[in-house]
Amino acid sequence: MQTLQAMLILLTASCASSLLIDYRLANRVTTLEDQVKGLLDARNLRSGFLAQFSEFNVTTGSGHYKFDQVVFNDGNDYDSATGVYTAPCTGIYLISAKIFIAPLPKTRPVFDIRLDATNQGKVSTTILDRISFGMSAINETGPASASTTVTVRLEAGNRLWVESMNVYSLKGKFRTFFSGVLLSADIVID
Ligand SMILES: *[C@@H]1O[C@H](CO)[C@@H](O)[C@H](O)[C@H]1NC(C)=O
Ligand SMILES: *[C@@H]1O[C@H](CO)[C@@H](O)[C@H](O)[C@H]1NC(C)=O
Repeated sequence: MQTLQAMLILLTASCASSLLIDYRLANRVTTLEDQVKGLLDARNLRSGFLAQFSEFNVTTGSGHYKFDQVVFNDGNDYDSATGVYTAPCTGIYLISAKIFIAPLPKTRPVFDIRLDATNQGKVSTTILDRISFGMSAINETGPASASTTVTVRLEAGNRLWVESMNVYSLKGKFRTFFSGVLLSADIVID
C-alpha cells in the first residue's frame, strides 16, 4: 500500500515535470520560429533604385529633383512623381548621386541629398551629403560632373531626395542620376 502511494506520487510528479518541459520546449520552439522568421524577413527584403532625367537638356528648379526615368525600382520605394526615396525598413543603405552640369555657372553649384527623419513626431530635414564643384572649375565654361556615394543608417520611413537652391542647366540620361540600395536590414523579432 505504501509502495503504491509512493509510486503514485512519483508518477504524478514526473507527469507534471514532463508537462513543464513540454511547455518550455514549446516556448523555445516559438521563440526560434520568431527568430527564423525575423532573419528570413530581413534577408528577403529588397530595395534599390536608379533614376535619371529622361530629357537630354534639363533646367532644374529649386526643390526636389523629380528624376522621371526610372531604370529600376526594386520594392517600389522610389516615387518618380515626387523624386523621393522612402526607406522601407531600418538598416544600412548605400546612397549615390551624380550631377552633370553644362555650362558651368559663375558661382559654385551645390546639390544636396536631403534626409527627412521623424523624431518623436517631429520631422526634421538635414543634409545627408552635398555635391559641390571644385573652385578650379568655376571659370571654365565646359561641362563638368561630380558625384557622391555615402553609406547611411536609415530608420524605416526616412525620406531622401536631391535638391538645389538655384536653377541649373543639367544633362540628363545616364549623366545625372539618383540611386540607392538597401545593404542590410535590421533583424526584427517580434
Ligand atoms: C541641348 O542643348 C544644347 C545646347 O543648348 C543644344 O545644342 C542641343 O541641341 C540640345 N539637345 C536637345 C536634345 O535638345
Ligand atoms: C574667375 O574669373 C574672375 C574674373 O572673371 C576672376 O576674378 C577670378 O579670380 C577667377 N577665379 C578663378 C578661380 O580663376
